[in-house]
Amino acid sequence: MVMLSEAKTYQAYYTRSAPIVDYMVNMLSLKPADRIFEPCAGDGVFVDALLNLYPDSEIDVCELNTQSVKELLTKFSAYPNVHIRECDTLLDEDLNLNSCFGGIYDKIIANPPYGAWQDYSKRTVLKKIYPDLYIKESYALFLYRSIELLKEDGILSFIIPDTFLNLHTHKALREHILSKTQIIELALFPSSFFPGVNFGYANLSIITLRKKSAPNECMNNTFPVIKGFNNVNQLYNIHKQELSITTYKQGDIFHNPDHAFYISDNNNLLYLINHAETRIGDIAECVTGFYSGDDKQYLRVSSPDLRNGKNYEVISADYINNDYSKIPNVLNGIEGKKCFIPIVKGGNAKYIKPENWYMNWSSEAVYHYKTDKKARFQNPRYYFRFGIGVPMISSSSISASLIEKKLFDQSIVGVFPKDESITYYLLAFFNSPTCNKLIRTINPSANNPANYIKKIPFIIPEKSILNYISEKTIGIIDSIKTSNSYDENTEFEIWEIIKNIYKI
Ligand SMILES: C[S@@+](CC[C@H](N)C(=O)[O-])C[C@H]1O[C@@H](n2cnc3c(N)ncnc32)[C@H](O)[C@@H]1O
Repeated sequence: MVMLSEAKTYQAYYTRSAPIVDYMVNMLSLKPADRIFEPCAGDGVFVDALLNLYPDSEIDVCELNTQSVKELLTKFSAYPNVHIRECDTLLDEDLNLNSCFGGIYDKIIANPPYGAWQDYSKRTVLKKIYPDLYIKESYALFLYRSIELLKEDGILSFIIPDTFLNLHTHKALREHILSKTQIIELALFPSSFFPGVNFGYANLSIITLRKKSAPNECMNNTFPVIKGFNNVNQLYNIHKQELSITTYKQGDIFHNPDHAFYISDNNNLLYLINHAETRIGDIAECVTGFYSGDDKQYLRVSSPDLRNGKNYEVISADYINNDYSKIPNVLNGIEGKKCFIPIVKGGNAKYIKPENWYMNWSSEAVYHYKTDKKARFQNPRYYFRFGIGVPMISSSSISASLIEKKLFDQSIVGVFPKDESITYYLLAFFNSPTCNKLIRTINPSANNPANYIKKIPFIIPEKSILNYISEKTIGIIDSIKTSNSYDENTEFEIWEIIKNIYKI
């Protein structure tokens, strides 16, 4: 029995799903003489399944939680071949030794803790052992550790979030996987398939791989990526069901920017992402915006009825400064009573956002922003410039709106084209399904930080088309400003043109 607080500390989410357990055990191609490792056993669900197949298998089991270890010892007391230890798999000295000598296990199976909290002293030690890895993400450390513990040709199967496939922070882990192992199969499915879990930030994956020391054997390896699951039972019969199965060559992925796994059935799209001559980062500056350090104190709202606005003071028109852009040295603040200026915040509005939020921009407040530890007076040379705001988090499709010489906050990536004349075309592109396909292949999570936006391939069409789309987009913006709506047919027309430009 695991208490809620323990679940947080140990990330003790047990694999109570027969299809997942059976699929993973099956992927190991077990043999009776295999030496097996379960690095974070919990209540031993994988050990049960392994023993069901071969009751005499030699299985080493590690677990950090004292109570779970006690229960494991009782549960498997009839099995002298199951060796249970209370230890920290990431730091354990015996395991250090075994990985130094090239690994000792034929098979490893795990559902490691995801994002488990590590105290600061432990983080320092982990940073020494795993210098290239993102140590805040425990699953990445478990996976790396386990690859080191496999013998040559040993196989592991792990169920983990799919964030290692694309996030910049996992670049070193990807390099390790691609150059030290052969991926046997990668299955991708919604996190809701895992009982009791449904994290919005990513999907789940089961990766099965074989350790291989010869780099060319790794690079020449091909493996299937299986997607399109409708329910977890499809894991029972993977190749027969109507799933999306695409084969990738490991060397191709290794040569992708940042070794990222771009997964798509659309070959034109993959080609474009990997070989684009021009990307958003080449034609525009992409920067994160401002944070006051204490929005409750410094931020005001236009109406108490505004979404997420009820915790903020409502502003009176007397305090709003509409001529701030004409003030010399406005980056040092504004003197006098009219010292509140509009700020563009996140949220999924397309093309243009109504002015609803105002920031205190008095000289005293600006001094605070520049000196306070929590405040972020970052990228100020982009404040009050003409550009585009892309929300850092998009619940559905990526969206973008104009920044009309305003301040923008840190929930937005400000995109400022080097050539201002393409701003409206770029705005139309960011709001198109074509751009959404590209960004979601580059980073499937709902996040759009600047580094991923910079990677989006960008194609500038011929001038007449650029002008046509710009005019139509300005028309949409005018219509939103005057009537708070726009003709969706115009938008569809723009989307079709952009689709034809990108051919994806
Ligand atoms: C997500 S649960 C999975 C348990 C089990 N393998 C399953 O699939 O049901 C992760 C387990 O790892 C254990 N754990 C967390 N950090 C650990 C560490 N550093 N070393 C060993 N075990 C750890 C937790 O106590 C928890 O039981």
